[in-house]
Amino acid sequence: MSPKHPSESLTILTDLVLPSETNPLNNLFGGELLARMDRAASIAARRHSRRITVTASVNHVAFNRSIPLGSVVTVEAKVSRAFNSSMEIFLDVWLEDRESGIRTKANEAIYTFVAVNETGNPVSVPPIVPETELEKERYDAALRRKQLSLVLAGKMKPHDATELKALFI
Ligand SMILES: CC(C)(COP(=O)(O)OP(=O)(O)OC[C@H]1O[C@@H](n2cnc3c(N)ncnc32)[C@H](O)[C@@H]1OP(=O)(O)O)[C@@H](O)C(=O)NCCC(=O)NCCS
Repeated sequence: MSPKHPSESLTILTDLVLPSETNPLNNLFGGELLARMDRAASIAARRHSRRITVTASVNHVAFNRSIPLGSVVTVEAKVSRAFNSSMEIFLDVWLEDRESGIRTKANEAIYTFVAVNETGNPVSVPPIVPETELEKERYDAALRRKQLSLVLAGKMKPHDATELKALFI
């Protein structure tokens, strides 16, 4: 399979925060943001692999800023690294100021998706070649994050997580 670039999977979802999507403080409900990010990540994974893709894990979510009712929220998703059948998707969430139009970063998250065939069995995806400095940074750290996720899920023994161990030595 010929390699692809992260930009080929770029997915941008922009939407308003409506009253039915808020918590008692009138800020966006966390689960609603998780769902929006899952949808964007799913499309990015599909654009990279051109296969059916399923969410395997949510590796990291940081709700750094609350998102008030009426906000315009943009979720940007891009495949940061492709392994064999799995892909790490990095998500950046932006808020747009109503008057100035200036965007500020509100949250970020990292999801893992797996490409599968019609019977749900994992299938290979194309390799990925990062281009920008940020894409290269995210690509380099993705293997550590994969190993951490597998260790926490009980799918990898800690002593096999060589990339992860290297952080502490
Ligand atoms: C995700 C799923 C396909 C993985 O199947 P599996 O039998 O564990 O398959 P494997 O062990 O071969 O793993 C497949 C890939 O997923 C990766 N993976 C599995 N669990 C993972 C986790 N918790 N974190 C990171 N990667 C994970 C594996 O490392 C492997 O990656 P690679 O092929 O790139 O090396 C399977 O668990 C599944 O279908 N889960 C349900 C998905 C779903 O319905 N999601 C929606 C939530 S309701």
